[in-house]
Amino acid sequence: MGLKGRDVISALDFSRAEVEELFRLAERLREEIAERRILDYARGRLMATVFMEPSTRTRLSFTYAMIRLGGAVVDFGPEAATSRAKGESLEDSLRMVDGYGPDVIVLRQGTPGMAEKVAEVCEAPVINAGDGWNEHPTQALLDVYTIWRELGRVDGVTVGIMGDLKHGRTPSSLSYMLSLFDGVKIWYIAPDPLQIRPEVVERVEGRVEYSKTSKLEDVIEELDVLYVTRLQKERFPDPEEYERLKGSYRVDADFLRKFRKIPIIMHPLPRVWELDESVDSLPQAKYFEQAVNGMYVRAALVKEILGI
Ligand code: NCD
Repeated sequence: MGLKGRDVISALDFSRAEVEELFRLAERLREEIAERRILDYARGRLMATVFMEPSTRTRLSFTYAMIRLGGAVVDFGPEAATSRAKGESLEDSLRMVDGYGPDVIVLRQGTPGMAEKVAEVCEAPVINAGDGWNEHPTQALLDVYTIWRELGRVDGVTVGIMGDLKHGRTPSSLSYMLSLFDGVKIWYIAPDPLQIRPEVVERVEGRVEYSKTSKLEDVIEELDVLYVTRLQKERFPDPEEYERLKGSYRVDADFLRKFRKIPIIMHPLPRVWELDESVDSLPQAKYFEQAVNGMYVRAALVKEILGI
């Protein structure tokens, strides 16, 4: 696979063959980790994690992935405890992190497009772990990996992506990665003010079939996967607009039980009010497995980028 030394900025940086190879490698690593707990592929290698927006799963799963591969992780720490708080630019901070010689840098920050700029000044490969509302390519990897594991295929699946499609970076990256496969249909399910951004549909145009709706009940029986997302409160310039849209979509077990067929339910997490805890006990609830899958597929990705 040709991923060695490569930056990962967009979900469209991957080919279908690379994605499938990563899924197969993730399966192998899952078995090896179950047997030996800590492997030794990455002995002597270093990962730098730099998270300038809140994160639980992404930071921890990259950290666990690197340590499970036998490598070490240096975390930049909370922004407030660094020279960023004294006004240092992101580029300068990252130039320094890069200067210490990590083998890979995992970066989350709030400015769309900035991961690409940082990658240009860094010698180490940079993995975009979220650049504002723009993209979150490794989330897409674990999302599609989960679909592949649960349904045994990605070709021909119908996926409903619901929630804050406008401000979310997971709906865009998921759409891009699904567009690498054949015969995928996407339903974008959201109230009008939260519908998918035009640039996303432009980029998948002709490669997936897609439609928009605001009514989950009209399309749910068509879906193989329902992917729920949180209203991205931190990206609302006007708090009143957030309050207006709060609660405008929500899934619970009673609602789901009304339908003939319940799709598998996914969510990038964290959830707030849009996905009720009553769903957790349904066999279709896959979001916690989905998060754990992230560790294995990120381990596969890091292993390939390091060429080990
Ligand atoms: C997502 C993110 O950060 O974009 N979380 C994650 O990485 N699992 C989704 C979200 O914050 O809503």
